[in-house]
Amino acid sequence: MNDAFRYENGTLVCEQVDLASIGETYGTPAYVYSSSAIRARFRAYQSAFSDLSCRICYSVKANSNLSVLRLLAEEGSGFDIVSGGELYRVLKAGGDGRTVVFSGVGKAASEIRFALAEGIHSFNCESESEIETISGIANSLGRTASIAIRVNPDVDAITHPYISTGLREHKFGVSINAAEALYHRAAQLPSLLPDGVSCHIGSQLLDLDPLVEAADKALRLIDRLRSQGIPIRNLDLGGGLGVPYRSSERAISIETFAKKLRPKLAKADVTLTLEPGRSIVAEAGVLLTRVLLVKTNGQKTFVVVDGAMNDLIRPALYQAHHEIVPVIQPGGEGLIHADIVGPICETGDFFARGRDMAPVEPGELLAIRTAGAYGFVLASNYNSRPRPCELLVDGRRVAIARRREKYDDLTRSE
Ligand code: LLP
Repeated sequence: MNDAFRYENGTLVCEQVDLASIGETYGTPAYVYSSSAIRARFRAYQSAFSDLSCRICYSVKANSNLSVLRLLAEEGSGFDIVSGGELYRVLKAGGDGRTVVFSGVGKAASEIRFALAEGIHSFNCESESEIETISGIANSLGRTASIAIRVNPDVDAITHPYISTGLREHKFGVSINAAEALYHRAAQLPSLLPDGVSCHIGSQLLDLDPLVEAADKALRLIDRLRSQGIPIRNLDLGGGLGVPYRSSERAISIETFAKKLRPKLAKADVTLTLEPGRSIVAEAGVLLTRVLLVKTNGQKTFVVVDGAMNDLIRPALYQAHHEIVPVIQPGGEGLIHADIVGPICETGDFFARGRDMAPVEPGELLAIRTAGAYGFVLASNYNSRPRPCELLVDGRRVAIARRREKYDDLTRSE
């Protein structure tokens, strides 16, 4: 259990607020985030890389709540976006467009125009067609677009196949060989400044070696490009540092990551960009849910809760493991073996299968841990379920970062 979420006198608390009272006051299901945990993770990146020329661009897709973005903007974070909508959120949260890097395999002309108008720092480009489009739009607006080409270093990130991106067969980036020709093409196009190399090999990485291998390959490419007269100044290594979803897992330490990169980067004289998402917000959040009922079918016990796959889809989509803990610490010793499921009409609607847990009664609160990243952002209204509220705790204060949706919200746009 990290510092932000811990038991005090038998009750799970977030910072200085107990989650039982949060459940009473704001209802369930509810996402609860700790400001101090988010700040601490961001600062860990900042301090580990403080002696290098480095910009930390929080990856908005992990958790795009305006209050979270505002908090990170205040900490001095830049932002990694993948859509015009994310840029809109960054600006609305008070973020500075000039700190933004725009990633993604397909950007619409309207999104490129928006990004150029806001003077973003750079585009991470993934195809020849894309750089031609950006050049055309930048030229028509009288702007110069700084671009990096996202190379696919062909390393195995050793993570879930849906979130691994750095192999040759994936849709992302261009091969290192093809990239060289693309840089020369970009250098000839008007209104483009090809001054960066970017890569991102996958998410939830628990092993540092693939990241270092990708960095080495990117640095060798930078050397070659420089010797061919293309003055690369920026290296963007993407995001990807994993978090321990199980107590048996060990995250890559940010300090060790920095230590491995330091000598390489110093020698290469580049500015580093990192795009961490999950490693900043995942552990800072829980999804609070209430037990509706407990039923048995034959041999199996099901704990049915009021949260569901529409609120947190990671278990259903990636077979992801999330620790699930009672808000009030159980008194007894015995365990039940149960599936923890939501009310949605899908067999895939589960948070945990075959979990050993303390017996629970209807009305009890459970906290689904490590839900601050890729939780609410992936929520939907499936089964016409209003999406949960998001609460941001700061010390003793609880702010409603997003109110719970009402039935009216479900039909508002129809
Ligand atoms: N940069 C790029 C280009 C990315 O594609 C991603 C994540 C990131 C940065 C941030 O990666 P992070 O530091 O969060 O690992 N929904 C999945 C994760 C999808 C990740 C997509 N790209 C999940 O819930 O596990």
